[in-house]
Amino acid sequence: MEVVILNSTDAVADRCASIISDLVHRRPNCVLGLATGDTPRATYRRLVELSNRDVLDMREVNAVALDEYVGLASDDPRSYRAYLKRELADPLGLDSRAVHVPDVGSDDLQRSCAEFEALLERLGGVDLQLLGIGTDGHIGFNEPGSSLASRTRIKTLHPRTVADNARFFPGGSDVPRHVVTQGVATILSARHVVLIATGDNKAAAVAAAIEGPVSAILPASALQLHPHATAILDEPAASHLRLADYYRGVQEHKPPWQGH
Ligand code: GLP
Repeated sequence: MEVVILNSTDAVADRCASIISDLVHRRPNCVLGLATGDTPRATYRRLVELSNRDVLDMREVNAVALDEYVGLASDDPRSYRAYLKRELADPLGLDSRAVHVPDVGSDDLQRSCAEFEALLERLGGVDLQLLGIGTDGHIGFNEPGSSLASRTRIKTLHPRTVADNARFFPGGSDVPRHVVTQGVATILSARHVVLIATGDNKAAAVAAAIEGPVSAILPASALQLHPHATAILDEPAASHLRLADYYRGVQEHKPPWQGH
C-alpha cells in the first residue's frame, strides 16, 4: 500500500482532490466510488472549488455510493443519498441519474443488493473508490467480522458504529441499525482504492489496517490485498504506524521516473 503522511487535514483534502481531478482529466466519464461521513467533506469542497474555477468538469462522471442506511424516509437529509446530493452532486452539476445509491426503499433488499452489483458491472467497474475508515476498522459499512469475500449486502451495525454515528442523529434514539453496503470484495474490485483518515481517533484502526494482519475482524486490513491502494493520512491518524518514518522517506525520495 502507498502510504502518504501529510502535515494537515487540509493537505489530505488537497492531495485527495488532486488524485481525483487528475483521473477526471484523463478520463472525464470515469466511475467514482464515493464515501460519506465527515472525513471526505473537505475533499468534496476542493472538487467543488476546482469546478467553480472552471479547472475541473465532473459532469460526465458516474458516481456510486458505498453504502446507505435502511429505514430512513426517502427525503431524509441524513441519508447518504441526500449527503452526496448536497455535498457533491448539486454543486458540481451532476445529473441525479449519474449518482447511484443502493435502492433501500425497495421491499426486496436482497434484490436491490444484486441490482447494485449488476449496475457496477454495467458501468464497467469503479475506477477510483474513495474510503474513510471507522474507529473499529470498518470500510463502507463492512463491520468487524465481515467476510473479505463479501459483495453488496444488508448488514447490522456494530454498537460502536451506532455510537460513532449518533452525532448525525441528534437525540440518538433513531440511529438506523441496518444498512446496505458494498462488500469488501466489491470494494477491492475498484481499480484504485484511496483511503483517507484524519485525527487521532483513527490512529489505531489505521495502523491495524495498514500494518496488522489481514483479518475479517478489521475489514480495512483487506486493502493490503489490493494492487493499487493509497492511504492519505494526517499526522495524528498516522501516529500509531510503526513504519511512519519509512513511509515519509519513500514520499521524499521518489524514484526520478515517478515525478512528483
Ligand atoms: C460511516 C461510513 C463510512 C465512513 C465512516 C467514517 O460509517 N459508512 O463510509 O468511512 O463512517 O466516518 P467519518 O469520516 O465521519 O469518521
